[in-house]
This record gives sequence, C-alpha cells and structure tokens, in this order.
Amino acid sequence: MSFDLVFFGGTGDLTWRKLMPALFQAFRHGKLPAGGRILAVAREERSDDNYRDFIRQRFDEVEPAKRPSDEEFARFAQLLHYRQMDLSKPDHYARLKRWLDEPKAEEGRATPADTAVLYLATSPHLFPVICEQLGAVGLNHDRVRVVLEKPLGHDLQSAREINAVVRSVFKEAQAFRIDHYLGKPAVQNLAALRFGNALFEPLWRRESIANIQITIAESLGVGTRGDFYDRTGALRDMVQNHALQLLTMIAMEPPPTADAYAIRDEKLKVLKSLKHFTPESVQRDVVRGQYRAGSVGGQSVPGYLDEAKVPAGSRCETFVALRTEVQNWRWAGVPFYLRTGKRLASREAHIVVNFRPVPHPIFAGMSNANKLVIKLQPEDGLELHLMAAKGSVGSGSEALSPVSLDLDFDKAFPSERVGAYERLLLDAIAGRLNLFVRSDEQEQAWAWVEPILQAWKQDTQGPRPYVAGSWGPPAASALVARDGFMWDEEQ
Ligand code: BG6
Repeated sequence: MSFDLVFFGGTGDLTWRKLMPALFQAFRHGKLPAGGRILAVAREERSDDNYRDFIRQRFDEVEPAKRPSDEEFARFAQLLHYRQMDLSKPDHYARLKRWLDEPKAEEGRATPADTAVLYLATSPHLFPVICEQLGAVGLNHDRVRVVLEKPLGHDLQSAREINAVVRSVFKEAQAFRIDHYLGKPAVQNLAALRFGNALFEPLWRRESIANIQITIAESLGVGTRGDFYDRTGALRDMVQNHALQLLTMIAMEPPPTADAYAIRDEKLKVLKSLKHFTPESVQRDVVRGQYRAGSVGGQSVPGYLDEAKVPAGSRCETFVALRTEVQNWRWAGVPFYLRTGKRLASREAHIVVNFRPVPHPIFAGMSNANKLVIKLQPEDGLELHLMAAKGSVGSGSEALSPVSLDLDFDKAFPSERVGAYERLLLDAIAGRLNLFVRSDEQEQAWAWVEPILQAWKQDTQGPRPYVAGSWGPPAASALVARDGFMWDEEQ
C-alpha cells in the first residue's frame, strides 16, 4: 500500500523530536509500507537536501540507540521531501494537491498514493484554516486522512469550534485525533489484560477494588516551552487527555468487538459517567500545585517562576491531583485518583489497582491487600502484588510476606517493541482508528474539566507550592488520606 505523509509544521519541535525519529524506527524495523513519500511543509524556503540535513542534525538529539547510521539515514532520506508553504495562501494548497496528485518518478513513485495522511503538527489555532483550505482544493477525498495533534482546543468551546470545522470538511472516519498515550505499549497491554484474559474481569469492580490511582509523573520542568506551557497548564496538557484516556481504558465495559467504534463508544460512556465537579467539589477534590526550586536527581533546579519565558507571578499549575468517581454499577463509590506534574521525584507513569483487603485475616502479622501495577514508564510491565508464606503459616508472627509477580514486556517480547508515535503513525497510514480519539470523547473530556477551569478562574488562592523533586504539594497526600488510602510510593 503506497502512502504520502505530509507534516504541516515540518520544521517544528514535534516533527523533528518525535515524528521523524518514530518514522525512522518504523523504517528501520521494515514496518513502513513500501512506496511511501514524506513531505514536510513549513514557512521558510528550503530545498529537499537542506531539509534532510536539518533532520540529520536533529537526530543527534535522539537517544543513541535510535540514531541512524550514515548508511541508514541516506536510505531514509530518500523518502523525505520539503516544500515551502504559507498556510494562509490558497494557491499553496493547490500546489500541495498537485504534488500529491502528480507524483514524479524521480521522487519515488509515478502514480498517486493509495493514501495521503495529512498530519497537522502545528499550533491548534491553525487547524480550522488548514482544514478549510484543504477542503477548498478537494484534499478531503476518501483517500485522505487528517491527523490532529493535541492540544485540540483550549476549552470546550474552542474544541467544539475546531471539531465543527473538521467535521464540515472530513468524515469522522478520516479524522485521526492523536493522544500518544494510547499508543504506548502498556495501554495495549491493559486492553489485552482485561479483555484477553478471563482472570481479572470478575474482580474488576467495586466489590473487589478499593481504589485506583493513575500517576503520570515527570522529572523534567517546562524547559524552553515556558510560554506555551504557561497558557496551558497541567490540567489541559495532561489531565484532559492522557490521564483521562488511561482512566477510560481502566474503567470501560468490555466492548462487543475490537472495532474502533465499539471501543470508543465504551470509552465515551465512562467519560459521561464521571462525577461532575461543582465549585465546592473542585475546592475539596482537586489540588493544583506549582514547583519551587529544589533538586531532581541530585541536581539543583529552578522554580517554575524562574524558568525562561514564564511571566512574573504566573498562577499556572504544573501539578494536578484529583479525586473522581465513575458513577455506574461497576464502579459506584470507588475513588479514582489522578495525579500528574512536572519536576516530580522521578519520571514514571503507572496505574495502580488497589484491591480490598481480605475480609477476615487469619494469619498473624502483616497482610497487605493485593494490588496490580500497570507500568507505562520508564519501562512498561505488570506487577501483581500478593502475600505468600515465608515460613510455616501456622508458626505465629510474621507468617506472610509480600511478593510480586513481575512481567517485563521488553523481555517477554524482545523484538516486538514499538514506540507510541511509531505505532500511531503506522496506524494512521493503515487507516486503523482504534487508538485515536473520537470528537465526542474529546468534547466530553473538555466538558468534564471545564468546571475546574472555571473554579480556578474565581479562586484567589492560586496553586500550592511544592518543592521540585518531591511528589507534589502535601495536600495531594491529604486528598487520598481523607479516604483512608495512600499514594503508591507512600505505602
Ligand atoms: C505531552 C505534553 O503531551 O506529553 C508534555 O504536552 C509532556 O508536556 C508529554 O511532557 C509527556 O509524554 P511522555 O510520553 O514523555 O510521557
């Protein structure tokens, strides 16, 4: 199957930092379909060769194992092309259409591709204009797919406006809204764990589960993105999308089939079942924080307000912890705690399913409740924490010890590992929508965070400070402790 892949924002951070390295991995693994062309478009003038050099240099910033050798890059570079494009000019879209419709044999193919994937790796405020112009020149026919990178909007209204334009030009089946967390191998494994095994499903409910914790912790600060981040904040950057998508994967009902529409219908139901926030419950159940100077991995780091391009006195949150519930028969009363932040103690993302303790302990000494840990980062894996007999269980004190069954997916499937962007790009090329977010899911997620955004606008207190390198403001621990629980690292 031949394809053309066009990156709008072709010289931007996302393209060279994530997308090109992911494509190169797909190429190296022999997964990129043959007969492909990759076109980067951006405002400045460049030749194909100049663009290839630009990408080649940027690969130096990629982790060493993922960098191409000279020979590999020379082969990969043959797929890369560049065209100058002013996104406000209709004739530049007509030119793009010609490039797609009338390929030149010397560029690798003489007939139009089976699929044209148009990846909008630009600022979202450009999405409407790009989509309208694509529609105007007829680049919305059935062989075209459009990939929309997050953030899709700034709030519910702007997300609706963007989606309305996208819908007026493309069919829903042509729109691939990316949430790269859905491409992470651990998320695939979560679906496999739940719906490919009979073991857990009977326990996956309020009767057996005490609480669920979703943590996406980053040790990095905002880096050079201070201006973008300050307009965004952790709630929009991580909770509205990544954390909520993980929650839907944990809480959804088994879909009738693995079809994209069936899966997304179930995820949407979860989002609709989430407990609504009121100004009072935001006050009680949502903690926002902002990092102060501290030390991460033994290195002193500045506070958020001292980061480049962050406006003086900013009240932008770099941390959010919240408590919610999925109000349906399966989950009624089970707290779901979500937590994400920058400059936390370590880079790790995991979901912890804490089971209820045994109803009637008969052994002396410690007896921890079981828990299942689904690890997304830094490595992906599964840990099942159980109690086992250390000595003779009849012998009195300290009879039981905690043990864990660990599954390391890198060891289990050493040659099958595919990164998130690699998987999602390959899926977009192949037209598989399962791991992409539907517009109604996305709007529902915005509708859910909206009262938090509103409450924060009225709130005079601002974010709570936390020391860089910690696990966030103490209030985040208190949020969980109020229900008699602890965050995983506190246990
Ligand atoms: C992005 C956010 O969506 O996800 C970034 O905009 C964040 O702020 C990144 O750093 C985290 O992704 P990952 O895959 O490194 O956990």
